Amino acid sequence: MSEDLDGLQALFADFGQDMTNTAPLYAWLARSVAQDPEVAGLLLANDNAELRVCALFFAAVHNEILIDPSVPIASYYRSVTAKPRDDDPWPTFREFCLERSTSIRRTIATRTTQTNEIGRCALFLPALGIVADEVGPLSLLDVGTSAGLNLNLDRYSYRYQPGSDLDPSAGVSAAVLPCEANAATPIPPALPTIAARRGLDQSPVDVRDPAQARWLQACVWPEKPERFTRLAAALEISRGHPLAVFAGDAIADVAAQAREAASEGHPVVLNSWVLNYLSGAQRNAYLEQLDLVGAELDLTWLFAESPKLAPELPFGSDPDKPEATHLVLVCWRSSVRSVEPLAICHPHGAWISWRGSSESPIA
Ligand SMILES: C[S@@+](CC[C@H](N)C(=O)[O-])C[C@H]1O[C@@H](n2cnc3c(N)ncnc32)[C@H](O)[C@@H]1O
Repeated sequence: MSEDLDGLQALFADFGQDMTNTAPLYAWLARSVAQDPEVAGLLLANDNAELRVCALFFAAVHNEILIDPSVPIASYYRSVTAKPRDDDPWPTFREFCLERSTSIRRTIATRTTQTNEIGRCALFLPALGIVADEVGPLSLLDVGTSAGLNLNLDRYSYRYQPGSDLDPSAGVSAAVLPCEANAATPIPPALPTIAARRGLDQSPVDVRDPAQARWLQACVWPEKPERFTRLAAALEISRGHPLAVFAGDAIADVAAQAREAASEGHPVVLNSWVLNYLSGAQRNAYLEQLDLVGAELDLTWLFAESPKLAPELPFGSDPDKPEATHLVLVCWRSSVRSVEPLAICHPHGAWISWRGSSESPIA
């Protein structure tokens, strides 16, 4: 147990170091947790040593704050306070963790971190515009869909910089997605027509369950208020437009789901930051499933993944910046497969750098 605890304290120390520039509040707190076995030990509530990650600990605490934003530690969190305090949060944080230890332990024991980043819709949109021009109304199948929020991509507003604004026909959406795009990016003049949409996930999030929706929010870092705000808006939109999200496995179920999707429009399989969770053998098996479907019917697969973390995927030969997010379009038309690497992107959709341009990339 004490060895486990030493390891955890070292984990928090490393996390504190790594997060110094990206998440100063969590970095500050992590460095203090690293010195405090009682607080660090809360992570031991998860029996699986591999799941004992700092992000889970911080999400469990954030979850408590979202349940009751009037608690003193909330005044340091940008997710719930417009002007967060900038004095030492540690004494208040420590007291809060120990006061709520039973509930925090329960969360750590039973949950894993879960995200759904709608900013990625700004990455998918230009490619979907191209596909819709070719094939007409789209039937989306988002595999590893989480809460399915990216299936509502035609219900969000887009602010591509410089240049184009895109809004749903009903008007400006409560979820507005800014995205810096290079001049080569083919931003469509209008949002594509989505004929049908379905999602598949091994542990889908039910947005109608307040505890599940809150957990999705708790996993967003408080120092990213723009992500937090658009997630809240997307959750609200999704409650008004119930989505067909199925519990299942990417490999075992993608073919059947794609065939179902094909009965309602041109089937487009989407993946964003999902296939890195599979093993190499599983990624190959996933590809085989898509090839099987593509041999039977015209199919499109659009993915935003990293060559470094998912090297078996068809990124094109020798992809540059392998650690970055690459957007790739794979089409099966009359049983023939083609692969087109489209862009390099920010992992959450803050920018997109479309290929085929002589201008210097944004990245
Ligand atoms: C990082 S989240 C990304 C969610 C969403 N695609 C997005 O871009 O916001 C990864 C999701 O993949 C799901 N997942 C991981 N392995 C899976 C599998 N073998 N089959 C189905 N879903 C899986 C997880 O449950 C999780 O919801």
